[in-house]
Amino acid sequence: MNTSHAPTPVNPHKAGPPLWLLAELTYRCPLQCPYCSNPLDFAQTERELSTDEWVSVLRQGRAMGAAQLGFSGGEPLVRQDLPELIAEARQLGYYTNLITSGLGLTDAKVAAFAEAGLDHIQVSFQASDPELNNAVAGSRKAFDQKLAMARAVKAAGYPMVLNFVIHRHNIHQMNDIMALCEHLGADYVELATCQYYGWAFENREGLMPSKTQLVQAEQEVNVYRKRLDATGSAMKLIFVTPDYYEERPKACMNGWGNLFLTIAPDGTALPCHSARLLPIDFPNVRDQDLQSIWYDSPGFNHYRGDSWMPEPCRSCDEKQQDFGGCRCQAYLLTGNADNADPVCSKSPHHDRILAARNAADHATAGLTGLIYRNADNSRLFFRG
Ligand code: FES
Repeated sequence: MNTSHAPTPVNPHKAGPPLWLLAELTYRCPLQCPYCSNPLDFAQTERELSTDEWVSVLRQGRAMGAAQLGFSGGEPLVRQDLPELIAEARQLGYYTNLITSGLGLTDAKVAAFAEAGLDHIQVSFQASDPELNNAVAGSRKAFDQKLAMARAVKAAGYPMVLNFVIHRHNIHQMNDIMALCEHLGADYVELATCQYYGWAFENREGLMPSKTQLVQAEQEVNVYRKRLDATGSAMKLIFVTPDYYEERPKACMNGWGNLFLTIAPDGTALPCHSARLLPIDFPNVRDQDLQSIWYDSPGFNHYRGDSWMPEPCRSCDEKQQDFGGCRCQAYLLTGNADNADPVCSKSPHHDRILAARNAADHATAGLTGLIYRNADNSRLFFRG
């Protein structure tokens, strides 16, 4: 019996609840962005979860303590049961986010989502002008539709939250992008430099900006931010820098199996949206309840805690801040997900990052060299 008054030691490996649930409703999408984070072989995914199966996932997640819910894809709007799922989620008490390209959205759908209780909508753009936007999206009508839907979202009383993925083909447009957002009356603008997973990793050489481009873009954002402050504008600019130009890795997902739970369209449960590329068996909500998936499955326990860490992470005094970085990035860059994230300058594989930076300094390829994310191209990546 413990008679001391010292607090009971907390087991650092004991997982808390999955506070953030990402429901990837479908891999279907009308756009073909070459930086999509969906798996390369998405076109061979088995049948999507039914409405009832999704409702069961939402209920189980909420019972375990999940509070934030994202609906994403692919394009979640292609699911006809989206209003029903939003209503169920809201009734369960989730804070609900819809992450959409805006393609397939209508004024009537925005109204239906508001009626169902949706809390938040984020619309993604590819560029500040229709030519580049539509060329990157692989769709001739995308830009006009996005403009109309960004306005419809705001008119329905939501904050206007816009997301731009930044890469070497649109990084010169930073000022135009911010001006467009200001003109539209955006409330929050995420300028997220491309992260290299899925299709973006495959296209990295054609997408990654040079350091010079990046520094200039960041300066432009800082200047624009000051001007917004000076004029009393409420628009907030969030600039997300790319891992590949950092010297320390990000605390990916805030730690493996720590907060984030992703359910893929076919019911595969993942600790992050990219993890199905790893050589790990992940459980499926069709076979197992969410509680046992989260707490007991080998897939979710694989990189919890720090006993899995090799050197230099194991003895690093920063390991509690970054958890060894990103497992998917370690796998993509070294072929072994156990390795330290090569973004870290202490990693023995940091040369892979330096080589990517060097390639970005000398890259000349245009958009036509990119592999677009569509079912035909996906079939090229089918395994076996
Ligand atoms: Fe999978 Fe970082 S994206 S662990």
